[in-house]
Amino acid sequence: MKTYKIAVVPGDGTGPEVVKEGLKVLSAAAGAEGVKFETKEFDFGGERYMKTGETLPDSAIEELKGFDSIFLGAIGHPDVKPGILELGILLKMRFSLDQYINLRPVKLYPNVDTPLKDRGPKDIDFVVVRENSGSLYTGLGGTENKGMPNECAIQVMKYTRSQVDRCLKYSFELAQTRKRKKLTLCHKTNVLTYTGDLWFRAFEEMGKKDFPDVTRDYAHVDATCMWMVKNPEFFDVIVTENMFGDIITDLGAQIQGGMGIAAGGNINPQGVSMFEPIGGSAPKYTGKNVINPLAAIMSGMMMMDHLGEKKAAARIENAVVKALSSGEIKSMSAGKMGMGTREVGDLIAKYSA
Ligand code: IPM
Ligand code: MN
Repeated sequence: MKTYKIAVVPGDGTGPEVVKEGLKVLSAAAGAEGVKFETKEFDFGGERYMKTGETLPDSAIEELKGFDSIFLGAIGHPDVKPGILELGILLKMRFSLDQYINLRPVKLYPNVDTPLKDRGPKDIDFVVVRENSGSLYTGLGGTENKGMPNECAIQVMKYTRSQVDRCLKYSFELAQTRKRKKLTLCHKTNVLTYTGDLWFRAFEEMGKKDFPDVTRDYAHVDATCMWMVKNPEFFDVIVTENMFGDIITDLGAQIQGGMGIAAGGNINPQGVSMFEPIGGSAPKYTGKNVINPLAAIMSGMMMMDHLGEKKAAARIENAVVKALSSGEIKSMSAGKMGMGTREVGDLIAKYSA
C-alpha cells in the first residue's frame, strides 16, 4: 500500500482552521480507499516571520522536495507589509519548486449561488490553466529616480518559448481528457505584440501538429472577462499567461460561488505540487469557526486527483455535491453556512468515508 508524504503549511489567519478540516476529509476519503498518508507540519507564515525574520528558507525548499505533495492553508498577515510573505513564501515556493501550472477549476456545484442571473451548474464548468512561472511575476524591471517627479518604474512581461510550450502541452492534454476537448487561449495579442505573438504562434503550431482533436479558440483577456459573465458555457479549458490568469481566476471564483469554494493547484507535473484554497487568510474571521473550509477541502480533492488517487478524489467531490444538494450547507459565505467550519468538515468527512 502506498503511503504519501504530505507537507502541511497551515499558514496565517484562517489557514490553520481550513487545513484542519481539509485533512479531516482527506483521512476519511483516503482511509475508505485504503490510501495512507503521513503529514509533517511547517510553520511558515506571518507569525514566524515576525519572530525570526524568516519567510521560506532555502533549506526548507530542499526538504519540501522530499514530499509527494504540499497542502497549504493561507499566507498573509495584517501586521506584515504587503509583498513580503507573498513573495517570500508563496511565490518562492511556486518558483523554486517550478510549479509552472496553476490549475484553477471554475465549476458551479448544485445549490451554490452564482451572481450570474439564470445560470446553473450546466453553464459553469471550465478549468483555467494559469501559467505560473513567468510574465510580470519574475521580478524583472526596476526603478529610477525614486521619489522624484521623473521617477521611472518598469516591470517586464517575460516569456521563453519553452515556458510557453510546456504550459500549452499540459493544457492541450487536459483538454483531451474532457468531453468537449476545447482549448481557449486567452491573451491580448492586439496590444502585446511580442509576448502575445509568442503565445499565439506556439498555440497554433502545437495544436495543429500534436493535438488536431482539440478545438482551438482564442479570446482577448478583456473579452474573456466579458464572456465569463455573459456566456460562461463557451469555455471548457482556458490557458493563459500568469498575470491575466491571476485576474480572470478571481472572476472565475466569484461565478462559481466565491472564495469559500474556489480551490487551486500549483503543479509541477514532474515534481512536487502544492494545493491551496484561492482565497486569503481572512484575519477578521480567525478562530471564530465561521470560515468556509470547502475551498481547502476541494484543494485536498485536487491533490488526491493529482496523486492518481482518483477514487479518493471522487469520494470527496461526491461528498461535497451531496452536502450541497441536500441543502445542509446554506451558503458559501463565512458565517452564513448554517453550521460552523468544523461542522462542515465533519459532514463532508462523514459523506466521504
Ligand atoms: C493568487 C494570489 C497570488 C498571486 C499573490 C498572493 C502573490 O493572488 O494566488 O492568485 O498573485 O498569484
Ligand atoms: Mn490572485
